[in-house]
Amino acid sequence: MIERENQITTKEVDDDSQQFDLTLRPKVLSEYVGQMDIKKTLEIAMQAAQKRKEPIEHILLYGPPGLGKTTLANIVAHEMGANIKTTSGPAIEKQGDLASILSNLEENDILFIDEIHRIKTQVEEILYSAMEDYALDIIIGKGPATRSMRIQLPKFTLIGATTKAGSLSSPLRDRFGHIYKLDFYTESEIESILKRSSAILNIEIEPGAIREIARCSRRTPRIANRLLKRVRDFAEVADKKKIETELAKSSLKTIGVDVIGLDRTDRKILLTIIEKFNGGPVGLNTIAAATAEETETIEDLYEPYLMQVGFLDRTSRGRVVTENAYAHLKIEYIENKNQKNLFY
Ligand SMILES: Nc1ncnc2c1ncn2[C@@H]1O[C@H](COP(=O)(O)OP(=O)(O)OP(=O)(O)O)[C@@H](O)[C@H]1O
Ligand SMILES: [Mg+2]
Repeated sequence: MIERENQITTKEVDDDSQQFDLTLRPKVLSEYVGQMDIKKTLEIAMQAAQKRKEPIEHILLYGPPGLGKTTLANIVAHEMGANIKTTSGPAIEKQGDLASILSNLEENDILFIDEIHRIKTQVEEILYSAMEDYALDIIIGKGPATRSMRIQLPKFTLIGATTKAGSLSSPLRDRFGHIYKLDFYTESEIESILKRSSAILNIEIEPGAIREIARCSRRTPRIANRLLKRVRDFAEVADKKKIETELAKSSLKTIGVDVIGLDRTDRKILLTIIEKFNGGPVGLNTIAAATAEETETIEDLYEPYLMQVGFLDRTSRGRVVTENAYAHLKIEYIENKNQKNLFY
Protein backbone atom coordinates (compact mmCIF):
# COMPACT_ATOMS: atom_id res chain seq x y z
CA MET A 1 0.00 0.00 0.00
CA ILE A 2 1.27 3.43 -0.85
CA GLU A 3 1.24 5.74 2.10
CA ARG A 4 -0.03 9.19 1.49
CA GLU A 5 2.21 12.02 2.45
CA ASN A 6 1.08 13.88 5.48
CA GLN A 7 0.04 17.11 3.87
CA ILE A 8 -0.49 20.30 5.72
CA THR A 9 -2.57 22.83 3.88
CA THR A 10 -1.47 26.43 3.99
CA LYS A 11 -4.70 27.21 5.79
CA GLU A 12 -3.76 25.12 8.78
CA VAL A 13 -0.37 26.71 9.21
CA ASP A 14 -1.60 30.19 8.39
CA ASP A 15 -0.77 32.57 11.18
CA ASP A 16 -4.06 34.37 10.73
CA SER A 17 -6.11 31.21 10.42
CA GLN A 18 -9.80 31.50 9.76
CA GLN A 19 -10.68 29.69 12.94
CA PHE A 20 -8.77 32.25 14.97
CA ASP A 21 -10.41 35.06 13.06
CA LEU A 22 -13.85 33.59 13.62
CA THR A 23 -13.53 33.17 17.38
CA LEU A 24 -12.47 36.76 17.79
CA ARG A 25 -14.94 38.26 15.37
CA PRO A 26 -17.69 40.12 17.29
CA LYS A 27 -21.16 38.86 16.41
CA VAL A 28 -23.40 41.63 17.73
CA LEU A 29 -23.21 45.39 17.35
CA SER A 30 -22.61 45.97 21.06
CA GLU A 31 -19.41 43.91 20.89
CA TYR A 32 -18.14 45.85 17.90
CA VAL A 33 -15.66 48.37 19.29
CA GLY A 34 -15.37 51.93 17.96
CA GLN A 35 -16.75 53.38 14.69
CA MET A 36 -19.36 55.12 16.85
CA ASP A 37 -20.95 57.24 14.12
CA ILE A 38 -21.45 54.28 11.82
CA LYS A 39 -22.88 52.18 14.63
CA LYS A 40 -25.37 54.86 15.64
CA THR A 41 -26.64 55.44 12.12
CA LEU A 42 -26.82 51.75 11.38
CA GLU A 43 -28.70 51.01 14.58
CA ILE A 44 -31.41 53.52 13.70
CA ALA A 45 -31.60 52.35 10.11
CA MET A 46 -31.94 48.74 11.24
CA GLN A 47 -34.66 49.54 13.77
CA ALA A 48 -36.59 51.55 11.21
CA ALA A 49 -36.32 48.79 8.62
CA GLN A 50 -37.48 46.20 11.14
CA LYS A 51 -40.49 48.35 12.05
CA ARG A 52 -41.40 48.62 8.38
CA LYS A 53 -40.73 44.90 7.99
CA GLU A 54 -38.45 45.67 5.11
CA PRO A 55 -34.83 44.85 4.46
CA ILE A 56 -32.37 47.62 5.26
CA GLU A 57 -31.17 49.72 2.31
CA HIS A 58 -28.02 48.67 0.47
CA ILE A 59 -24.82 49.41 2.37
CA LEU A 60 -21.34 50.19 1.07
CA LEU A 61 -18.44 49.83 3.51
CA TYR A 62 -15.03 51.09 2.54
CA GLY A 63 -11.66 51.58 4.16
CA PRO A 64 -8.24 49.95 4.56
CA PRO A 65 -7.95 46.18 5.13
CA GLY A 66 -8.56 44.71 8.58
CA LEU A 67 -10.71 47.53 9.98
CA GLY A 68 -13.84 45.40 10.28
CA LYS A 69 -15.87 45.58 7.06
CA THR A 70 -16.59 41.85 6.81
CA THR A 71 -17.28 41.77 10.55
CA LEU A 72 -19.79 44.61 10.30
CA ALA A 73 -21.58 43.01 7.34
CA ASN A 74 -22.05 39.83 9.37
CA ILE A 75 -23.24 41.79 12.37
CA VAL A 76 -25.90 43.58 10.30
CA ALA A 77 -27.17 40.20 9.10
CA HIS A 78 -27.21 38.87 12.65
CA GLU A 79 -29.00 41.91 14.07
CA MET A 80 -31.56 41.84 11.27
CA GLY A 81 -32.09 38.12 11.77
CA ALA A 82 -31.28 37.67 8.10
CA ASN A 83 -29.40 35.03 6.17
CA ILE A 84 -26.13 36.22 4.70
CA LYS A 85 -24.71 34.95 1.43
CA THR A 86 -21.13 35.87 0.79
CA THR A 87 -19.24 36.24 -2.45
CA SER A 88 -16.53 38.48 -3.82
CA GLY A 89 -15.94 40.62 -6.88
CA PRO A 90 -13.23 38.44 -8.45
CA ALA A 91 -15.35 35.29 -7.94
CA ILE A 92 -18.13 36.59 -10.16
CA GLU A 93 -16.79 36.15 -13.67
CA LYS A 94 -19.82 36.22 -15.93
CA GLN A 95 -23.21 37.95 -15.93
CA GLY A 96 -24.71 34.48 -15.52
CA ASP A 97 -22.81 33.91 -12.26
CA LEU A 98 -24.30 37.01 -10.72
CA ALA A 99 -27.75 36.34 -12.17
CA SER A 100 -27.77 32.92 -10.56
CA ILE A 101 -26.64 34.27 -7.18
CA LEU A 102 -29.37 36.92 -7.31
CA SER A 103 -32.14 34.59 -8.38
CA ASN A 104 -31.31 32.23 -5.54
CA LEU A 105 -31.81 34.93 -2.91
CA GLU A 106 -34.78 34.82 -0.58
CA GLU A 107 -36.82 37.65 0.89
CA ASN A 108 -34.76 39.72 3.39
CA ASP A 109 -31.49 37.94 2.58
CA ILE A 110 -28.26 39.85 2.75
CA LEU A 111 -25.88 39.48 -0.15
CA PHE A 112 -22.35 40.41 0.87
CA ILE A 113 -19.97 41.16 -1.99
CA ASP A 114 -16.40 41.62 -0.80
CA GLU A 115 -13.95 43.50 -3.03
CA ILE A 116 -16.92 44.83 -4.94
CA HIS A 117 -14.68 47.18 -6.94
CA ARG A 118 -13.29 44.17 -8.76
CA ILE A 119 -16.55 43.22 -10.49
CA LYS A 120 -16.26 43.68 -14.25
CA THR A 121 -18.31 46.59 -15.62
CA GLN A 122 -20.35 44.36 -17.87
CA VAL A 123 -21.26 42.09 -14.96
CA GLU A 124 -21.84 45.05 -12.68
CA GLU A 125 -24.64 46.34 -14.92
CA ILE A 126 -26.82 43.46 -13.75
CA LEU A 127 -26.68 44.94 -10.28
CA TYR A 128 -28.24 48.27 -11.26
CA SER A 129 -31.82 47.04 -11.72
CA ALA A 130 -31.35 44.38 -9.07
CA MET A 131 -30.50 47.02 -6.50
CA GLU A 132 -32.96 49.64 -7.64
CA ASP A 133 -36.05 47.67 -8.65
CA TYR A 134 -35.29 44.19 -7.29
CA ALA A 135 -35.41 42.99 -10.87
CA LEU A 136 -33.17 40.96 -13.10
CA ASP A 137 -33.10 41.94 -16.76
CA ILE A 138 -31.93 39.13 -18.97
CA ILE A 139 -31.32 39.27 -22.69
CA ILE A 140 -32.50 36.19 -24.54
CA GLY A 141 -31.51 35.21 -28.07
CA LYS A 142 -29.34 36.93 -30.62
CA GLY A 143 -29.81 39.27 -33.58
CA PRO A 144 -33.34 40.32 -34.62
CA ALA A 145 -34.89 37.74 -32.30
CA THR A 146 -33.32 39.35 -29.24
CA ARG A 147 -35.72 40.14 -26.48
CA SER A 148 -35.31 41.07 -22.90
CA MET A 149 -37.02 39.43 -20.02
CA ARG A 150 -37.51 40.82 -16.55
CA ILE A 151 -37.51 38.52 -13.56
CA GLN A 152 -38.70 39.89 -10.24
CA LEU A 153 -36.33 39.30 -7.33
CA PRO A 154 -37.18 39.12 -3.63
CA LYS A 155 -36.38 42.22 -1.60
CA PHE A 156 -32.82 41.84 -0.37
CA THR A 157 -29.97 43.98 0.95
CA LEU A 158 -26.66 44.22 -0.81
CA ILE A 159 -23.67 44.97 1.38
CA GLY A 160 -20.57 45.80 -0.61
CA ALA A 161 -17.09 46.10 0.88
CA THR A 162 -14.07 47.64 -0.75
CA THR A 163 -10.67 49.01 0.10
CA LYS A 164 -10.95 51.27 -2.93
CA ALA A 165 -14.11 53.35 -3.04
CA GLY A 166 -12.52 55.46 -5.76
CA SER A 167 -12.52 52.54 -8.20
CA LEU A 168 -16.27 52.08 -7.91
CA SER A 169 -18.33 53.36 -10.84
CA SER A 170 -20.73 56.13 -9.95
CA PRO A 171 -23.89 54.32 -11.15
CA LEU A 172 -23.06 51.55 -8.69
CA ARG A 173 -22.04 53.86 -5.85
CA ASP A 174 -25.21 55.92 -6.24
CA ARG A 175 -27.41 52.89 -5.66
CA PHE A 176 -26.24 52.42 -2.09
CA GLY A 177 -28.49 54.00 0.54
CA HIS A 178 -25.72 53.94 3.13
CA ILE A 179 -22.08 54.65 2.40
CA TYR A 180 -19.68 54.36 5.34
CA LYS A 181 -15.97 54.92 5.55
CA LEU A 182 -14.28 52.90 8.27
CA ASP A 183 -11.57 54.85 10.02
CA PHE A 184 -8.44 53.73 11.78
CA TYR A 185 -9.19 53.05 15.46
CA THR A 186 -7.86 55.04 18.38
CA GLU A 187 -5.23 53.40 20.54
CA SER A 188 -7.66 53.02 23.42
CA GLU A 189 -10.19 51.31 21.14
CA ILE A 190 -7.47 48.91 20.04
CA GLU A 191 -6.71 48.29 23.72
CA SER A 192 -10.36 47.36 24.30
CA ILE A 193 -10.24 44.98 21.36
CA LEU A 194 -7.05 43.40 22.74
CA LYS A 195 -8.60 43.01 26.21
CA ARG A 196 -11.62 41.33 24.69
CA SER A 197 -9.46 39.03 22.57
CA SER A 198 -7.20 38.01 25.46
CA ALA A 199 -10.26 37.16 27.54
CA ILE A 200 -11.66 35.01 24.72
CA LEU A 201 -8.32 33.29 24.17
CA ASN A 202 -7.72 32.86 27.92
CA ILE A 203 -4.52 34.86 27.86
CA GLU A 204 -3.26 36.49 31.03
CA ILE A 205 -1.71 39.78 30.11
CA GLU A 206 -0.49 42.89 31.94
CA PRO A 207 -2.16 46.22 31.07
CA GLY A 208 1.28 47.54 30.08
CA ALA A 209 1.68 44.71 27.58
CA ILE A 210 -1.73 45.50 26.10
CA ARG A 211 -0.60 49.10 25.70
CA GLU A 212 2.62 48.06 23.96
CA ILE A 213 0.79 45.82 21.51
CA ALA A 214 -1.87 48.48 20.87
CA ARG A 215 0.79 51.06 20.09
CA CYS A 216 2.29 48.77 17.45
CA SER A 217 -0.99 47.71 15.85
CA ARG A 218 -1.30 50.37 13.16
CA ARG A 219 -4.68 51.17 14.72
CA THR A 220 -6.00 48.09 12.96
CA PRO A 221 -7.94 45.35 14.82
CA ARG A 222 -6.71 42.53 12.60
CA ILE A 223 -3.08 43.46 13.21
CA ALA A 224 -3.71 43.88 16.95
CA ASN A 225 -5.13 40.36 17.20
CA ARG A 226 -2.32 38.95 15.11
CA LEU A 227 0.38 40.59 17.25
CA LEU A 228 -1.35 39.42 20.42
CA LYS A 229 -1.16 35.87 19.15
CA ARG A 230 2.48 36.18 18.20
CA VAL A 231 3.43 37.69 21.54
CA ARG A 232 1.58 34.83 23.24
CA ASP A 233 3.83 32.42 21.33
CA PHE A 234 6.88 34.15 22.78
CA ALA A 235 5.41 33.87 26.28
CA GLU A 236 4.69 30.17 25.80
CA VAL A 237 8.23 29.46 24.60
CA ALA A 238 9.60 31.38 27.61
CA ASP A 239 7.31 29.32 29.89
CA LYS A 240 5.51 32.39 31.17
CA LYS A 241 1.90 32.09 32.27
CA LYS A 242 1.35 35.79 32.00
CA ILE A 243 2.39 38.18 29.24
CA GLU A 244 4.46 40.83 30.97
CA THR A 245 5.18 44.26 29.56
CA GLU A 246 8.88 43.62 29.06
CA LEU A 247 8.23 40.38 27.23
CA ALA A 248 5.72 42.13 24.95
CA LYS A 249 8.25 44.85 24.22
CA SER A 250 11.08 42.48 23.38
CA SER A 251 8.86 40.15 21.32
CA LEU A 252 7.55 43.03 19.23
CA LYS A 253 11.09 44.13 18.62
CA THR A 254 12.09 40.65 17.49
CA ILE A 255 9.07 40.49 15.17
CA GLY A 256 10.36 43.68 13.59
CA VAL A 257 7.61 46.17 14.37
CA ASP A 258 8.71 49.47 15.80
CA VAL A 259 7.10 51.65 18.47
CA ILE A 260 4.49 53.07 16.16
CA GLY A 261 3.82 49.85 14.32
CA LEU A 262 5.94 50.28 11.21
CA ASP A 263 7.22 46.97 9.94
CA ARG A 264 10.18 46.19 7.70
CA THR A 265 8.26 46.88 4.51
CA ASP A 266 7.06 50.30 5.72
CA ARG A 267 10.62 51.22 6.52
CA LYS A 268 11.84 49.86 3.20
CA ILE A 269 9.31 52.00 1.34
CA LEU A 270 10.25 55.15 3.23
CA LEU A 271 13.99 54.50 3.00
CA THR A 272 13.80 53.78 -0.73
CA ILE A 273 12.05 57.09 -1.38
CA ILE A 274 14.57 58.90 0.81
CA GLU A 275 17.72 57.20 -0.45
CA LYS A 276 16.95 56.66 -4.11
CA PHE A 277 14.61 59.53 -4.85
CA ASN A 278 15.74 62.22 -2.50
CA GLY A 279 12.51 62.01 -0.50
CA GLY A 280 10.28 62.33 -3.59
CA PRO A 281 8.10 63.26 -5.31
CA VAL A 282 8.15 59.87 -6.97
CA GLY A 283 5.43 57.85 -8.70
CA LEU A 284 3.83 54.77 -7.18
CA ASN A 285 5.00 52.46 -9.98
CA THR A 286 8.57 53.58 -9.54
CA ILE A 287 8.39 52.92 -5.79
CA ALA A 288 6.93 49.49 -6.47
CA ALA A 289 9.71 48.61 -8.89
CA ALA A 290 12.41 49.90 -6.56
CA THR A 291 11.09 48.04 -3.52
CA ALA A 292 10.00 44.88 -5.36
CA GLU A 293 6.49 45.20 -3.88
CA GLU A 294 3.21 45.18 -5.81
CA THR A 295 1.70 48.60 -6.47
CA GLU A 296 -1.63 47.37 -5.08
CA THR A 297 -0.02 46.18 -1.86
CA ILE A 298 1.70 49.50 -1.36
CA GLU A 299 -1.42 51.47 -2.14
CA ASP A 300 -3.91 49.40 -0.11
CA LEU A 301 -1.85 48.07 2.75
CA TYR A 302 1.04 50.42 3.44
CA GLU A 303 0.20 53.92 2.27
CA PRO A 304 -3.03 54.48 4.22
CA TYR A 305 -1.24 54.04 7.54
CA LEU A 306 1.90 55.92 6.50
CA MET A 307 -0.34 58.82 5.53
CA GLN A 308 -2.37 58.47 8.71
CA VAL A 309 0.74 58.92 10.86
CA GLY A 310 1.87 61.78 8.65
CA PHE A 311 4.98 60.14 7.18
CA LEU A 312 3.91 60.22 3.55
CA ASP A 313 2.05 62.70 1.40
CA ARG A 314 0.35 62.12 -1.91
CA THR A 315 0.84 65.01 -4.29
CA SER A 316 -0.07 65.47 -7.92
CA ARG A 317 3.53 64.71 -8.85
CA GLY A 318 3.97 61.64 -6.70
CA ARG A 319 4.66 60.48 -3.18
CA VAL A 320 6.72 62.59 -0.79
CA VAL A 321 8.26 61.50 2.50
CA THR A 322 7.63 64.10 5.22
CA GLU A 323 10.03 65.66 7.67
CA ASN A 324 8.36 63.66 10.48
CA ALA A 325 9.33 60.41 8.79
CA TYR A 326 12.96 61.53 8.58
CA ALA A 327 12.87 62.30 12.30
CA HIS A 328 11.32 58.91 13.10
CA LEU A 329 13.95 57.10 11.04
CA LYS A 330 16.64 59.31 12.56
CA ILE A 331 17.79 60.59 9.18
CA GLU A 332 18.82 64.19 8.73
CA TYR A 333 16.23 66.09 6.74
CA ILE A 334 17.68 68.15 3.92
CA GLU A 335 15.04 70.21 2.21
CA ASN A 336 14.60 69.08 -1.32
CA LYS A 337 14.04 71.86 -3.84
CA ASN A 338 11.77 69.57 -5.85
CA GLN A 339 9.42 69.39 -2.93
CA LYS A 340 8.73 73.09 -2.77
CA ASN A 341 5.42 74.45 -4.00
CA LEU A 342 3.93 71.00 -4.18
CA PHE A 343 1.07 71.69 -1.90
CA TYR A 344 -0.73 74.37 -3.86
N1 LIG B 1 -14.76 46.94 15.65
C1 LIG B 1 -14.17 45.79 15.97
N2 LIG B 1 -14.22 45.34 17.23
C2 LIG B 1 -13.60 44.18 17.56
N3 LIG B 1 -12.90 43.41 16.70
C3 LIG B 1 -12.83 43.82 15.43
C4 LIG B 1 -13.46 45.01 14.99
N4 LIG B 1 -13.21 45.18 13.69
C5 LIG B 1 -12.46 44.14 13.31
N5 LIG B 1 -12.22 43.31 14.36
C6 LIG B 1 -11.38 42.11 14.33
O1 LIG B 1 -10.46 42.23 13.24
C7 LIG B 1 -10.57 41.14 12.34
C8 LIG B 1 -10.52 41.68 10.93
O2 LIG B 1 -11.72 42.34 10.60
P1 LIG B 1 -12.45 42.14 9.17
O3 LIG B 1 -12.11 40.82 8.60
O4 LIG B 1 -13.88 42.45 9.39
O5 LIG B 1 -11.76 43.28 8.34
P2 LIG B 1 -12.06 43.77 6.85
O6 LIG B 1 -12.26 45.24 6.93
O7 LIG B 1 -13.15 42.96 6.27
O8 LIG B 1 -10.70 43.48 6.11
P3 LIG B 1 -10.42 43.20 4.53
O9 LIG B 1 -10.50 44.51 3.83
O10 LIG B 1 -9.04 42.64 4.52
O11 LIG B 1 -11.46 42.20 4.08
C9 LIG B 1 -11.87 40.44 12.71
O12 LIG B 1 -11.76 39.05 12.64
C10 LIG B 1 -12.15 40.85 14.14
O13 LIG B 1 -11.66 39.88 15.01
MG1 LIG C 1 -13.07 41.53 4.74
